Amino acid sequence: MGTYVVTGSASGMGAQAAERLRADGHRVIGVDRADADVVADLSTPGGRQLAVDEVLGQCDGVLDGAVLAAGLGPKAGAERAIVEVNVLGVTELLTGLRPALAAADKAKVVVFGSNSTTSTPLVPRRAVRLLLRGDTEAAARVISRRGPLSAPVAYASSKLAVSYWCRRAAVSADWAGAGIRMNILAPGPVLTPLLLGQLKSGTGKQVRSFPVPAREYGTPEQIAEWVSVMLSPAADFMVGAVITVDGGTEALLRPRDW
Ligand code: NAI
Repeated sequence: MGTYVVTGSASGMGAQAAERLRADGHRVIGVDRADADVVADLSTPGGRQLAVDEVLGQCDGVLDGAVLAAGLGPKAGAERAIVEVNVLGVTELLTGLRPALAAADKAKVVVFGSNSTTSTPLVPRRAVRLLLRGDTEAAARVISRRGPLSAPVAYASSKLAVSYWCRRAAVSADWAGAGIRMNILAPGPVLTPLLLGQLKSGTGKQVRSFPVPAREYGTPEQIAEWVSVMLSPAADFMVGAVITVDGGTEALLRPRDW
């Protein structure tokens, strides 16, 4: 049985993924702001470093896999925190944990992207470039020019940047070359506290009007099944893929692009 780190382990899809891994007999090191094996605030450089140090200490230098599910949704006024957690909370953690992943045999990494990357208009490419450089302050400034759309744009920018980073890293000598299989899971609307918060907020009407051909929302249990497959030997030949599980929104909006 393996040792896995799961960020965002206290709620929603991260919690479900952690539960599924534990039920399968694996050891899970959960990371979250509270109620976790490692309590760390991934919106700050100090919190991210603490998370890396604690996880490396607890896993004895070997990790069979990582699930990066911690994330903030498109909440107005939280744009800087959104990009800090959703981008650097993934890239800095993975960079710090890479030696432990490389020490395992064919470790697997699942990063939570989102189908917002392909369904949100007006994402400034400059913000995505700045995020890829780790300049969250400048990126947040660029994003704030979108006015009332700043929060959804911050969210989509963060998920685009983290997906680009993962796809680039996934195929490199340091990752695929070191035996690590890194892939992205891009859900559409899934019934978690994050989505429920959006549905109850001022943007609830827009969220409800989002077209989902399946005519229902996903569940954390369904997504945890996909995580489980992406951590299994079935993913030995899967590198840098974006697996979209979104009830059909992406296919509806972009039938010819994939
Ligand atoms: P959730 O809100 O239920 O869980 C997210 C977890 O991340 C929480 O436990 C929270 O405490 C943790 N987190 C947030 N900020 C943190 C910080 N600064 N430091 C440490 N932990 C922090 O959300 P959900 O829906 O389970 O989301 C999981 C991932 O899936 C996120 O990356 C989200 O962006 C992504 N996603 C969610 C969708 C949805 O409809 N629910 C759709 C597409 C992507």
